[in-house]
Amino acid sequence: MCGIVGAVALRNIVPVLIEGLRRLEYRGYDSCGVAVVTADGPQRVRSVARVAELDEQVREAHFEGVTGIAHTRWATHGAPTVNNAHPIFSRDTLAIVHNGIIENYESLREMLRAKGYEFVSQTDTEVIAHLIHSLYQGDLFAAVRAAVQQLAGAYAIGVVHKNQPHTVVGARAGSPLVVGYGKGENFIASDGLAIAGSAEHISYLEEGDVCEITLEGVRIADRAGNIVTREVRDVQAYGAYGGAVDLGPYRHYMQKEIFEQPRAISDTIPATDAFTPELFGDNAPEVFKGIDSILILACGTSYYAGLTAKYWLESVAKIRTDVEIASEYRYRESVPNPRALVVTISQSGETADTLAALKHAQSLGMEHTLAVCNVATSAMVRLTEFKFLTHAGREIGVASTKAFTTQLVGLFILAVTLGKLRGHVNAEQEATYLKLLRHLPAALNGVLALEPQIIAWSEEFARKENALFLGRGLHYPIALEGALKLKEISYIHAEAYPAGELKHGPLALVTEAMPVVTVAPNDALLEKLKSNMQEVRARGGQLYVFADADTHITSEDGIHVIRMPEHYGLLSPILHVVPLQLLAYHTACVRGTDVDKPRNLAKSVTVE
Ligand code: G6P
Repeated sequence: MCGIVGAVALRNIVPVLIEGLRRLEYRGYDSCGVAVVTADGPQRVRSVARVAELDEQVREAHFEGVTGIAHTRWATHGAPTVNNAHPIFSRDTLAIVHNGIIENYESLREMLRAKGYEFVSQTDTEVIAHLIHSLYQGDLFAAVRAAVQQLAGAYAIGVVHKNQPHTVVGARAGSPLVVGYGKGENFIASDGLAIAGSAEHISYLEEGDVCEITLEGVRIADRAGNIVTREVRDVQAYGAYGGAVDLGPYRHYMQKEIFEQPRAISDTIPATDAFTPELFGDNAPEVFKGIDSILILACGTSYYAGLTAKYWLESVAKIRTDVEIASEYRYRESVPNPRALVVTISQSGETADTLAALKHAQSLGMEHTLAVCNVATSAMVRLTEFKFLTHAGREIGVASTKAFTTQLVGLFILAVTLGKLRGHVNAEQEATYLKLLRHLPAALNGVLALEPQIIAWSEEFARKENALFLGRGLHYPIALEGALKLKEISYIHAEAYPAGELKHGPLALVTEAMPVVTVAPNDALLEKLKSNMQEVRARGGQLYVFADADTHITSEDGIHVIRMPEHYGLLSPILHVVPLQLLAYHTACVRGTDVDKPRNLAKSVTVE
């Protein structure tokens, strides 16, 4: 999702800006652009292709400058056209890049039209450009501070003005922005990763902050207008963020990331012989004793990790667990429980809805919060009392894979830790769970070896336009995740149901043309699941079953079976999701979609 980079330097800064955009590409975008300040006002180059194409354009045009801003845009208001791409200008004197959504843009637009401003794009961003322009009286920092007072919604912005050729002003509320300190040059960016190497140190701006970066230094004003300092941290080397990740022998990052799961999981399992609350933070032993329920908040794939965790938390730790989609929770009236532990799950730690839901829970008096997150420096990790860092490594494919399975590992560890603390897990069970966890990477390798069989199925799936996914119990969220993976990267319409719900509606859809993917572990619900499968067969539906070794489900007319190498008890969801990831991946490959950057989707969703 939208990414911002800005810089003030004495050298041509365009290559640094473009490299910053390249590093933010993983967030997802549909257009991009860069502007520099010249004596004639800001000049820009924009593209609806990739950053590489923008790079070619700037090289060919010898487009250079010492002060500039750049942007990758994920369209919200207005189609992804060159005209709507950022930087957006106001009267050829001011240029702005923006991440977020301005909710009161319509009333602001009317007010600005009345003042004579013309709107040439469909973006909400253009109102910010004109608003700042209308308030400018020779001091861009002051104009931006005045303008943000009038903005409702979420934003991170970078602004330059013709009259201040060595100044970039940034501001943030709801969307992330960092300032970067270099040697005689300074930066802003959506993420430290974008400027690592050029900036030696960074500060995270806080909600409502406005910053002014010049050659001499950085000034930051808080929401009340006071000049403040923000903690200065070392910027991690670009390599520490994962660097330019090599594809190795793989065709796509998604495939690479699916195959990295054994390593990612083994990196995520702590080197410990016991499940102790300290794994989540120093104060956790005391706080965890006092909690009486769990509230999980997340979006997308992370939400499905939460749904799986509910089964573990309630069965292993016997603790009541609610799981809510963050974008729903933040706006509904709920009954807060100060004794609940609020758990946010997020690969990026920057998802706007999950961050807002977390802050909402905190505002309701729920002070005990835990982030299960893959990015140590993310806003979410900084906002929560406790953390469990997954060590999936950088995930580039928009469709989450290794982040999901490592989240599951973290959540299982939480369930066993709480179970132990609450007297529901004895030493023998603890040892068994640890052994199961430790063996997971090897078990996953066994599942990955099923790839050739899944490739054969993908040829069939690629010709379909619809698919149903069935699971029961602990594997229902896995069926949901399988359907999500298939739809997001292959664009095949897919829905998941708990198999018992089939007869209450979706059975009406079942014909020979409908593939029904069934997650069939050898658990207590197996016989029930087999009955549900018969209901599908009786209507001519084609079953594609991922069956555990000892389920005795065999291939026959209309029933295609891939046998999982071993049954994995409570941790079985972590194994069963992998063939579903591979099925989605290979089906998408056969259909020739842009697997790592599926249309309309973004990796890091920093707007509502
Ligand atoms: C986007 C991504 C998904 C991800 C979701 C939540 O939709 O495409 O893969 O599951 O955001 O992201 P988070 O970073 O909070 O896990």
